[in-house]
Amino acid sequence: MEKIRIAVLVSGGGTNLQALLDAQAAGKLPDGEIVLVVSDRAGAYALERARKAGVQAAEILRKACGEANRQAVFEGKLEAALAEARIDLIVLAGFLSILSEEFTRKWDHRILNIHPSLIPSFCGAGVYGLKVHEAALARGVKVTGATVHYVNEIPDGGEIIAQKAVEVRPDDTPEALQRRVMEEAEWILLPRATETVCREISARKTGRT
Ligand code: GRF
Repeated sequence: MEKIRIAVLVSGGGTNLQALLDAQAAGKLPDGEIVLVVSDRAGAYALERARKAGVQAAEILRKACGEANRQAVFEGKLEAALAEARIDLIVLAGFLSILSEEFTRKWDHRILNIHPSLIPSFCGAGVYGLKVHEAALARGVKVTGATVHYVNEIPDGGEIIAQKAVEVRPDDTPEALQRRVMEEAEWILLPRATETVCREISARKTGRT
């Protein structure tokens, strides 16, 4: 059976990418194969992680896509790279660019994202990175977590695939909470959900139910 060909899109450090690469190396992603990692920012450490794992790494720099028609130029280049690598599934792992409605519609139910809260709390446009955890602490929630969801045109608005809860401690700082959400939720949830989706796509492709 052919494996589902995965592209991981990143912008930064890439610890979630690392979790996916480690899962693959451990045989925990049997229905998928990470074949391409793309960064929209220069010098993202995630690309180094990809190269170390022997996965093709590419930079498609948003800033180098002009100003007039930046979104369309950027997505055009991205589409070309995805087509060349014959990608079936896109995983956003700390990818900070917003994808257009046209793009997400074309890749309907074939783009996953991980968000570090229990959606619909602490999510949406502009709520990313440390801001998510600052908002959770400011609101005083006692439980937070992570969510893997399909990507549509609404930031963090697509169908939810999996969630995992994490306890908030009274003495948490945003940084401490961010770390615990990664360790206890994100790095476990993302590889698991990716495998689940790969298995589903495989089943659809081969006509299994
Ligand atoms: C993670 O918290 C992820 O949930 C969010 O961006 C962060 C990326 O971290 N979407 P890393 O680059 O995977 O280390």
